[in-house]
Amino acid sequence: MSAPRKLFVTTALPYANGKFHIGHMMEYIQADIWVRNQRMNGAEVNFVCADDAHGAAITIAADKAGVTPQAFVAEIAAGRKPYLDGYYISFDNWHSTDAPENHQLAQDIYRDLRANGLISTKSVEQFYDPEKGMFLADRFIKGECPNCHSKDQYGDNCEVCGAVYAPTELINPYSALSGAKPELRSSDHFFFKLSDPRCEAYLKEWTAAPGHVQSEVQNKIREWLYKDDEGKGGLGDWDISRDAPYFGIEIPDAPGKYFYVWLDAPVGYLASLKNLLDKRCIELGGDGISYTEYMADPDLEQVHFIGKDIITFHTLFWPAMLHFSGRKRPTRCTCTATSR
Ligand code: 2FM
Ligand code: ZN
Repeated sequence: MSAPRKLFVTTALPYANGKFHIGHMMEYIQADIWVRNQRMNGAEVNFVCADDAHGAAITIAADKAGVTPQAFVAEIAAGRKPYLDGYYISFDNWHSTDAPENHQLAQDIYRDLRANGLISTKSVEQFYDPEKGMFLADRFIKGECPNCHSKDQYGDNCEVCGAVYAPTELINPYSALSGAKPELRSSDHFFFKLSDPRCEAYLKEWTAAPGHVQSEVQNKIREWLYKDDEGKGGLGDWDISRDAPYFGIEIPDAPGKYFYVWLDAPVGYLASLKNLLDKRCIELGGDGISYTEYMADPDLEQVHFIGKDIITFHTLFWPAMLHFSGRKRPTRCTCTATSR
């Protein structure tokens, strides 16, 4: 008899700024069906998820509610169980991207990428809210559309005419947080050098290899990965830092700088797995397997179920982060039939 399949399976981590909606449950149910089927066929599966706790949206929601981001996230997390139990989702563990395991793993991955020459810094000019004392993400800037002149449109696109623009093109921009007129200010940002030829070559190989992603996803990825006939397009470097105040993980050796939420979110898969294996080691004494030993098994398959709106993060940034920090890369990213 052949050895059982060993599977580490995840679903996308929901933001901890709201309750579950049907899109989350649809994805979990589809992944759960697959996991149950694998288990019935003898596979050894660790199926995990976690709250995606960080980012500007959560910082601001907590501020509005008059509580700390930690308290805000804790309340959302406390309400998860009835839904997961009610739908019989067979997760082995539920954790949080704000947990110590995630801080440690995200910082370790960053240090390894830096040691591999794949981190750079560059000054970036952005809108700043002088009343709130913070840089503003595009969605927190509003103003008049430069194309159709509709009022109160977001900083990146117009919901009336569909135009896409930079926040600096808005007419009479204002902060959606305070109403103040935003100022343009510069700040140093950290970048993951995805334009490095090593990354480009690796991602072309990883995304094209059979089984890693669905063929429809492969076609979409080509639009981001390949330059056009005029040599334009292709992967640019990825801005992975945000300035304080930001609810997130501190960047090592860079006071006041935090990882952009999408840098530490997928690391949360590993953190949840590590938390599960550590707990089992305590329960089982000497019979448990450590996270390091588990991840070092060449037969272990790492499968991520995701929604179509987060393909870039999982099929480009995440495999590159793992590979170039010397870690196991995903075996497969499966896009479920949901829009999350
Ligand atoms: O799109 C979202 O809802 C994100 N919170 C998904 C994160 S998935 C993973 F990378 F953590
Ligand atoms: Zn418009």
